[in-house]
Amino acid sequence: MDERVDIGAVASLKIDVLSETGWFDDARFKQDMADYGGSEQSQYRVGWDAANAGGYAALLTLTLLDGDRRTILLDTGWSTTWMDEVFRRSGLDGRLERGEVDFMVLSHWHLDHFWGIESTLKHAPGIRIYAPATWRAEDRALLRDKQAFSVERADGGSVPICGNSVAHEGELLLTDADGEDGSGLYRVLPGVALRMFDASMLLQVRGENVLYVNVADKGIVTVTGCGHPGIMNLLGFARERIAAPGLYGCYGGLHLSIFDTWKPELDEIIDAVKALGMTKMGCNHCTGRMWAEKALSHGVPLIRGTDAYLAYSKVPVQTGGARAYLGNGDSVTF
Ligand SMILES: [Fe+2]
Ligand SMILES: [Fe+2]
Repeated sequence: MDERVDIGAVASLKIDVLSETGWFDDARFKQDMADYGGSEQSQYRVGWDAANAGGYAALLTLTLLDGDRRTILLDTGWSTTWMDEVFRRSGLDGRLERGEVDFMVLSHWHLDHFWGIESTLKHAPGIRIYAPATWRAEDRALLRDKQAFSVERADGGSVPICGNSVAHEGELLLTDADGEDGSGLYRVLPGVALRMFDASMLLQVRGENVLYVNVADKGIVTVTGCGHPGIMNLLGFARERIAAPGLYGCYGGLHLSIFDTWKPELDEIIDAVKALGMTKMGCNHCTGRMWAEKALSHGVPLIRGTDAYLAYSKVPVQTGGARAYLGNGDSVTF
């Protein structure tokens, strides 16, 4: 008997890459972590270089089976300056103000996905937000209490690291691994389910929301922020637990050769992903360009990016002519 959960279906899913550049320079990011206690330190205790901050955000446009459209904002980036530019460039600022974004999903509380929250709230303070229940006091203060944070430097100076002057006034749905009814899933729209994976990650953050979209007659598209719980776990969950014709595709950060360092397991993941037989994959952010390029050359169906990212005011240091990434300003339709 098929015990997979029926989540319904959508006619199609379009994803616009608002920004996939979490930060502009890997070396700077790593140095900041190292200077303030390493990757196990709290992200609120690191004196991050503001000029290096970018952010991750994607816009999901769903066409339902009856032809209606729904829009989900996945994440809100890091630097308010950068995200303001990104939102303006895409017209998202006006769409938020007109109430055209149905809700926001925060994938996880990492700085490059969450600290740019003011860029969303200044246009839509009442927006509904789904976020992992595993938040910390600082996350809550930033979201709801108009807090700003700074970090003491060794020389006695102070580094402002984040702040938000617009309190969230809308509904906040805190997600956990049980889901809405013990199924492990939240049905956020017809054809769209959210699953919170309770995994630990760097910088003392825990828990990641992943979106699963069932595209009619095609199958499941898995949409991630960073994919910290492991891409094979996320895809495996969809295959085993959600009723669908199969796995059709994925989009987002896959957290593989992050900081472009290679390890043998990454070759195995190329083979394993290929064996799943997906039709269309869009990856970027923390996937790692090394993994993406190698996977593409081994026949993994990655969508190539365009030069759209060059029109933004800043360009990441580590692009290196890579083509297997969906970059800022690109989009993909499933
Ligand atoms: Fe992350
Ligand atoms: Fe990230």
